[in-house]
Amino acid sequence: MTEQQRLNAMAAPLLAWYEEHKRALPWRGTRDPYRVWVSEIMLQQTRVAAVLPYYQRWMEELPTVEDLAAVEEERLMKLWQGLGYYSRARNLQKAAKIIAAAGAFPETYEALLRLPGVGDYTAGAVASIAFGQPVPAVDGNVLRVAARVAELREDIMDVRARRRIRGLMEGAVPPDHPGAYNQALMDLGATVCLPNGPPLCPQCPLAGLCEANRLGCQDELPVRKKKAGRRREEMTVYLLVQDGRIAVRRREGRGLLAGLWEFPHVPGALDEAAAGGPVAQWGLAAMEWQKTLQAKHIFTHVEWHMTGYVLTVRGECPALTWVDRAGLEGLAVPSAFGKYLQEAFACLPEG
Ligand code: ADE
Repeated sequence: MTEQQRLNAMAAPLLAWYEEHKRALPWRGTRDPYRVWVSEIMLQQTRVAAVLPYYQRWMEELPTVEDLAAVEEERLMKLWQGLGYYSRARNLQKAAKIIAAAGAFPETYEALLRLPGVGDYTAGAVASIAFGQPVPAVDGNVLRVAARVAELREDIMDVRARRRIRGLMEGAVPPDHPGAYNQALMDLGATVCLPNGPPLCPQCPLAGLCEANRLGCQDELPVRKKKAGRRREEMTVYLLVQDGRIAVRRREGRGLLAGLWEFPHVPGALDEAAAGGPVAQWGLAAMEWQKTLQAKHIFTHVEWHMTGYVLTVRGECPALTWVDRAGLEGLAVPSAFGKYLQEAFACLPEG
């Protein structure tokens, strides 16, 4: 059997298993795209048990996309408080405003992808669950199940590998039950095909199909290569915008990228609550936090994992230089900051 055939063969046993074992969750049993979408955003990087009370409270207060579009920011933050990654809530509201203004929920994977905060996984989940579109929703759980069933030995930390597996899964989604299928995979990954410790293969509907189970190599899959010998540095990068200008500074010393220009940053991956500290230390008043932007850059011996914040500020700081668009165009900024440079240009007015 080819990889594709093996993955295609998952649908029938998986759907039968799901009918019997599906978890009763409050966002199931509805195809209301708003409810499905909010649940999927809440479930990003957050366990089901943690999400449940938040979801219930949210839906009591904000039962429709119009309610979300109109709610006060303070109330929104309160409803999210404790779930973490607050930009998820801000993006939910931004997207809700777009949807409310358009008068209709986007109904396809491609259209959903254009909403703020909606990536490949979420677009796939909402398109399949709410709209019955036969697209996969590939998260860590699905990568694990697929890697084990079809003995896929590529490194799932590698973007190209993930893209290839997504492509295989695209062919494996049953056109008549895509939403149930994707959720069945999520449940299987969460309750049977476990990530840590031995999976519960005797209970698994895919055991007879699964190459990892046949070979006894479940614990080797999926393959996640840590790049050996490379140091990982977390940092928090600031795009500080004031009166059509943005703050930069010159890199000192003779180390990596010395003499080039960069956006101010501090060590560590600061969450939104902590990220205000350095801004205050620079003597600046944060007026509006606009956006969070993750980026990564791999050098030969070090990886930068960057959490970036875009915010408008007021004040002066001797260590920073403020440049407008033309000024920024004239500076040498290392490509490690490429994503932030692009965002900076997007923030600065023309001419
Ligand atoms: N994790 C992410 N989405 C989920 C869903 N719809 N059901 C259960 N677990 C999930």
